[in-house]
Order: sequence, then C-alpha cells, then structure tokens
Amino acid sequence: MDNERIATPERLSGDSEETSLRPLRLNDFIGQKDLKKQVGIYIKAALGRNENLDHVLLYGPPGLGKTTLASIISNELGVGFKSTSAPAIERPGDLAALLSSLNFREVLFIDEIHRLKPILEEILYPALEDYALDIIIGQGPGAKSIKISLKPFTLIGATTRAGLLSAPLRSRFGITQRIGFYKKNEIFDIVKRSSRILNIKINDEGARTIAERSRGTPRVANRILRRLRDIAEVEGEGHIDGALAAKGLEMLNLDELGLDNMDRRLVKTIISNYDGGPVGLDTIAVSLGEDRETIEDIYEPYLIQIGFLKRTPKGRVATRHAFEHFGFSNKGVIEGELF
Ligand SMILES: Nc1ncnc2c1ncn2[C@@H]1O[C@H](COP(=O)(O)OP(=O)(O)OP(=O)(O)O)[C@@H](O)[C@H]1O
Ligand SMILES: [Mg+2]
Repeated sequence: MDNERIATPERLSGDSEETSLRPLRLNDFIGQKDLKKQVGIYIKAALGRNENLDHVLLYGPPGLGKTTLASIISNELGVGFKSTSAPAIERPGDLAALLSSLNFREVLFIDEIHRLKPILEEILYPALEDYALDIIIGQGPGAKSIKISLKPFTLIGATTRAGLLSAPLRSRFGITQRIGFYKKNEIFDIVKRSSRILNIKINDEGARTIAERSRGTPRVANRILRRLRDIAEVEGEGHIDGALAAKGLEMLNLDELGLDNMDRRLVKTIISNYDGGPVGLDTIAVSLGEDRETIEDIYEPYLIQIGFLKRTPKGRVATRHAFEHFGFSNKGVIEGELF
C-alpha cells in the first residue's frame, strides 16, 4: 500500500507542520457550530462554579480535530493538559501514577481510549466517579484495599470507535460529543486560515478547489495545501490559484470528489468483483490486501458520507451513485473501463 496516501485522514510523518496550524482557542476552531456552542457553555459553567469540567468523550473519524479540541478545552479552562494514549499505558501503576499527578481541574487526555485494557478501566471507574483510587496491597487472604483520594480533574477521551467502548466506561462521561465531517465552506475557511499562518499565497478559487477535494477533513485540507505550495513554488509562480490547484490535484491523483486510488480500488472491487455487494468486510480486506480495521476506520467513513457505500447486516454494498461515478451504468452492466 502507498503509505503516504495524500487523502488519508490519518496523521502521516510529513504532517509535523500541522502542530503550528492547531487553533488554540475555541473561537479559532472553525466549524462544528453546535458542538462549539455546547462546549463553550459547559466550560463557562464549570469556570463560574470553580469546579472541574465533567469528563468529555470526543468521537469521530480521524483528522477532524479531536486532539485539537481537547487541548483547546484545557486552554479555555486555563489548566494544565496531560496527554497520553491508551496503548501507551501498560500497567495499572502507570495509570495510577498519572491520575495522582493531576492538579485540581487539570485535563488528562487519553487518545484511542477504546484500546484501554479492561484492568485499567477498573482503575478508572472510581477515579472518574469519586476521584479516588482503590489500591489493593498484598495478595490472597491478607490483601488489603486502601483508598487514595485524587483532586477533581477532567478526563477527555478521544476515539474513532465509540462503539468499541464498554458501556460502563461510556457512561462515566458526562459530556459526549461527536465530531463529524466539515462542510465545504468550513474547510474553505480552514484553508484560508492555514495559508495565512504558513504564509502561502492562495486565492478564493484555489481554496475552494482544495475544499472540494479534502473529504470534509481539516488534516487532509492542510496536507493538500502544503503539497500545492511545493508545486506552486517549483512549477508555478509561487501562488495557488484555481488552475494550479486543479493541475496539482490531478498530479496527486485526487479526483473531483477527493477520492484517491485506494478509495477507487475499494469501490470498484465491490462493484466488479462482487456485483456491487453485499460483500463481507473480511472478503474486501483480503481482496485489497488491507486489514479490516484500516478499511473500516480510514477508508469507509467518507465513502459512506458521500453515499457511495452502505453498511448492511449482510455486508458492504456499493450504491447506484457509486456505479454511476465510476461509469458502470447499472448493476451488472459494465460500460466504463475497468481499472
Ligand atoms: N475546527 C478546526 N479548525 C481549524 N483547524 C482544524 C480544526 N480541526 C482540525 N484542524 C486541523 O486539523 C489537524 C488535525 O486535527 P487533530 O489532530 O485534532 O485531529 P484528530 O481528530 O485528533 O485526529 P486523530 O483521530 O488522527 O487523532 C490539526 O492539526 C488542525 O490543524
Ligand atoms: Mg488526535
């Protein structure tokens, strides 16, 4: 597989510049109007009462701003931000140490929280509910349980797979917010903002072209912007206009919907090998040589969003819309060229 897919919403090694593009305050976080309004109210209320903010669960596809929003929340609360990810926490002692290091109202951010081991979840429950740790000392009949109290803090958990969270863990979050794909005009604003920060000259048409092909995903928009800057500097006049953006995106193999080779292979496989489906995810994974989690988390959400793919109990189905886009006029009747 091409590890450096331009259209992937996952963070790639070349995305380090992204950090400088992260908005730091809620006001600079573009789009997600309802979410912003609600989160803003919760923050104000917690500040007004001088309490810790309720625990927050953020879920949604990669690259839409979960980590960004988590750090914005700590900035708005004016408190420290400790960040880790579930796979990085190995032993109960590590989690206990992390929790007891938190100051009053501080934010602990746990990324990929659906991957937390069950034994660690057990530690988290009393910590989230009663701000306490139940530590067992010793083994067998002589074992004793002691309670250590913690300072009230806020856990912010992020996940691309809310469905994989255990029900007890999910129920500990007082605030649950979904981050969905952005509208084109929102991505347009993000591209404009990023180009100001990175000092890239781009006109409205250029920004609009990027917005149309960024799959509603800020991370992808920012990445395309940086690649087009390279193309503009080397092959153009140093600025991005509509024509340069269109030419560049063609070079990058992104079609007018922002689909890349992998997306096309996925949909075309279902259409031409499985008659449009339904076909099981495992079968698709084998056909494409990809693992099922990657397909489910990374490729499918946007294809579902634009109505090319449906998840049904019997498997994945390519829609009529997808057939038409790829030049298959009807189920079973192939007009277009195969890949
Ligand atoms: N609402 C927004 N306004 C402006 N820029 C944004 C917004 N959301 C995300 N970004 C930009 O997109 C980049 C990716 O966002 P972020 O890393 O927060 O995504 P994520 O949801 O945590 O992804 P992952 O699931 O891979 O961890 C950020 O560096 C930031 O520059
Ligand atoms: Mg993240």
